[in-house]
Amino acid sequence: MTSIRDLRHHVGTIQTLNGWVYNLRTGKGLLFVILRDGSGLCQCVVGQEQVGADVWDAVNTLTQESAVQLTGTVVAEERSLGGYELHVSSAAVLQIASDYPITPKDHGVEFLMENRHLWLRSQRQWAIMRVRNQIIWAIHRFFQDRGFIQMDAPIFTGNAVEGTSTLFETDYFDQKAYLTQSGQLYGEAMAMAHGKIYTFGPTFRAEKSKTRRHLTEFWMIEPEMAFYDLTMNMDLAEEMIRFIVTDVLAARPHELAILKRDLSHLSKITNPFPRITYTEAIDRLRSDATRRLLETMEAERVAEHAALSAEGPELEKEAGQAKKFRKSQIDARLREIRSRLEEIDEDLRNIPVWRESALGKQWGDDLGGSDETLLTMQYETPIMVWGYPSAIKAFYMKRDPGNDAIALGVDMLAPEGYGEIIGGGQREDNLDLLLARIREHDLPESVFHWYLDLRRYGSVPHAGFGLGLERTVAWICGLKHVRETIPFPRMLGRLHP
Ligand code: 4AD
Ligand code: MG
Repeated sequence: MTSIRDLRHHVGTIQTLNGWVYNLRTGKGLLFVILRDGSGLCQCVVGQEQVGADVWDAVNTLTQESAVQLTGTVVAEERSLGGYELHVSSAAVLQIASDYPITPKDHGVEFLMENRHLWLRSQRQWAIMRVRNQIIWAIHRFFQDRGFIQMDAPIFTGNAVEGTSTLFETDYFDQKAYLTQSGQLYGEAMAMAHGKIYTFGPTFRAEKSKTRRHLTEFWMIEPEMAFYDLTMNMDLAEEMIRFIVTDVLAARPHELAILKRDLSHLSKITNPFPRITYTEAIDRLRSDATRRLLETMEAERVAEHAALSAEGPELEKEAGQAKKFRKSQIDARLREIRSRLEEIDEDLRNIPVWRESALGKQWGDDLGGSDETLLTMQYETPIMVWGYPSAIKAFYMKRDPGNDAIALGVDMLAPEGYGEIIGGGQREDNLDLLLARIREHDLPESVFHWYLDLRRYGSVPHAGFGLGLERTVAWICGLKHVRETIPFPRMLGRLHP
């Protein structure tokens, strides 16, 4: 037995593939099975004259997603999918699937989400998960090679980290407990024991609104470093993102091609990432550059809308007389046009709202999703925005020694409108100040006793950040929504499958 991925090592030999039928086509005296084995796709050709009637009949009964074992000669064939074919000599049917629900026709996303357990088998979803895996592996290599050790923070916790409004509460033997929002506070304790650590675990936020960027359960990578300040923290975050993207570009070109990812922005990853202050970000949002950007965006959308609206009826006319193959091409294009038109309509409804939010921004306001989009569209690489108003940041952030209104926090925003992928900063290391913040934020002092100990015993400057895995996958894969970036997404209104 071999895998489709390894066929290139076996040209000219007889091999067995185990897999599932992705597609079955019939030609004159020939059957073409596109086999899927998890490692890739391969065209397996069955010639009526080359095999016995039993093999021919067996393959003929196969349906989409039936499980089958095919044996035959591996042949290099440039024109074929993946470059290799199997010329089948024998077949063993393992199971016949009937009425597989996901067909090549257009399914609405709700339907696909309901069938997520099967949708994962589709090519696009397959490619996304491969990129996700590459990112995870790159992250571990990046940190492990730099002397960080991975440590795990608890998932049941007794306190909030990132504000109390998004806590999932659970019952812990008659005690109130929360699912962790971030491993950071524990990470700080671990960094005081090991110097440089990172956590890599699930985190939970009761996000009560549906957006393209929010999950209720997501994975976060949180490095924490003793003796680091904000600048060193930003240097590390930049180096890590550059490492991840470079690695994915080198190792997953095939998957990025399946996803039709435009690589023009990603390939600029070696350029330095601009670092701007929050105040500069506000000025830029209110600037003429943003006003012009919105005008251009609106004009482009209107023009695209007109072009697509004209293309649709033309295609429909052609479809009337088209042959089967051309007709299916036209149908696919019509679906593409319909969904793009919906997106454009939505953008056109939103642009006035975005304009008002950006141009009306006041110092002290938080940056919303659309503000981040407008800001990052003005750059080709990720940018880092630092020095936020302390009033809108978490209790643990250290403040600028020269200006109490500013927190030494940083967000990294991904280009192409993907928004915040990293949040972090330098931590308050002074016991009295930290205690005062806990009181200001109305947090229960008693549960932070252990955390305050870190400032009682050998407190040092330290910093860290949290990278959202799913937002990173969405950005690198070029996906509109985070729901496709995790095998089984959890969001408002989605607990199954
Ligand atoms: O900015 P956040 O809230 O930062 C923290 O939790 C810090 N304690 C991290 C640290 O300094 N150790 O979250 C960090 C990142 C965000 O930038 C975003 O990428 C991701 O986590 N994130 C989410 N991803 C998906 N769905 C959500 N609901 C998310 N909330 C945050
Ligand atoms: Mg944040």
